[in-house]
Amino acid sequence: MANVVVVGAQWGDEGKGKIVDWLSNRADVVARFQGGHNAGHTLVVGGTVYKLSLMPSGVVQGKLSLLGNGVVVDPWAFLDEVERVRGQGVDVTPDLVKVAETAALILPVHRDLDALRENRDDGMKIGTTRRGIGPAYEDKVGRRAVRVIDLADEKGLRARVADLLHHHNALRRGFGETEYSADELVAALLEIAPKILPFAAPVWKLLDAAMAEDKKVLFEGAQGAFLDVDHGTYPFVTSSNTVSGQAAAGTGVGPGKVGYVLGIVKAYTTRVGEGPFPTELTDETGRRIGEKGHEFGTVTSRQRRCGWFDAVLVRQSAKINGLNGIALTKLDVLDGFEELKVCTGYMLDGQPLDRLPASTADQARIEPVYETFEGWTGSTAGARSWADLPAEAVKYVRRIEELIETPVALLSTSPERDDVILMQDPFKT
Ligand code: GDP
Ligand code: IMO
Ligand code: MG
Repeated sequence: MANVVVVGAQWGDEGKGKIVDWLSNRADVVARFQGGHNAGHTLVVGGTVYKLSLMPSGVVQGKLSLLGNGVVVDPWAFLDEVERVRGQGVDVTPDLVKVAETAALILPVHRDLDALRENRDDGMKIGTTRRGIGPAYEDKVGRRAVRVIDLADEKGLRARVADLLHHHNALRRGFGETEYSADELVAALLEIAPKILPFAAPVWKLLDAAMAEDKKVLFEGAQGAFLDVDHGTYPFVTSSNTVSGQAAAGTGVGPGKVGYVLGIVKAYTTRVGEGPFPTELTDETGRRIGEKGHEFGTVTSRQRRCGWFDAVLVRQSAKINGLNGIALTKLDVLDGFEELKVCTGYMLDGQPLDRLPASTADQARIEPVYETFEGWTGSTAGARSWADLPAEAVKYVRRIEELIETPVALLSTSPERDDVILMQDPFKT
């Protein structure tokens, strides 16, 4: 299969950025297909750390980097990131980075609404990144979004903004907030338009042309399967489809073009924000995993919740994504633990369960069933060959493969780009 899609198979932050950067070497084009700057993808190359939110992680390797129609774009955050990444010596130009003309914009009204909802004392807190992601997708589906291409037509832009503010100012009045001025928002957008429009392109057409020339495309997912708006722990999810199926709709290619589906899987489990987490460890072991794994959010610096590996979740993820293989990351974080546990099933009201139940209340109530493993005293950190792994680590990985019914294609053993063990090349399978 010529193309590969990388998706998060848990609750995000699995190490997608590192793996996409590594795989970019084998690709010609890298394309994001959903989410926005709620994503935080960290790459470490020879000690230099790159933190990317909107830029596809192939940009550091100088690959054509596309933001598909499924992405929501905050134009100010986009330009800030262009400057930041340029400051690190990456030549980010409109020749290298393209944004779909049809992508919906995240505007200050969206950021405000996200925060207003999260700050309510009486409301349900999702623990969002407060980047305006949810409100922007609501407006897209509600057919009142301002899109990238609208920046090219002042008259049309005024009409779009008027329609958008008709809705948002009604909401703002309800929250007791001051109303937005259409003139001010239009002026701000017209000011930024000449900087954004050079990046605008028909992304679907660029992909069609690339594929016609047999170029290899790497689709880069953000978030993870259990943050998917349909398949995740709703309502504690993000507002887009994060599963592999979205790679096609979110860039404008046919589903047959997506190719190999690589799930990124952390060797334990983390989650940031609110919501059910069956294998969460709120004790010393959880704290130890978090410390060793530096589990703090890239975007919001929040502490990530940590827990044991949940094979039930990842097996479910393998099915809904159609995973062909996984990249198992952060195995090195488990070095030195005397004992490790893996969740192999759940119990609900005395009955065994082999999937995450759909009801939020049941998701919070289920009890994990664990299999216990002996830890390893040797180190896996920085290992680049299977033979370098301690026998107990090999056993742990092999059992995970068995439980999730999916082979390990890559194993990552440190944040550094080249600390990877390749077992199966996704571009050659
Ligand atoms: P993403 O959102 O899926 O791209 O993941 P993040 O970048 O938000 O979080 C993953 C973190 O783990 C980053 O700080 C990476 O540098 C780091 N990381 C990735 N792979 C490994 C690994 O195999 N071992 C260790 N120790 N860290 C890793
Ligand atoms: P990457 O791509 C982890 C979580 C938020 C919150 C929920 C909704 O780095 O893996 P949103 O701002 O999207 O409306 O927040 O989703 N969330 C992430 N958690 N990694 C991410 O991205 C995330 N993007 C959003 O913490 O629980
Ligand atoms: Mg992240």
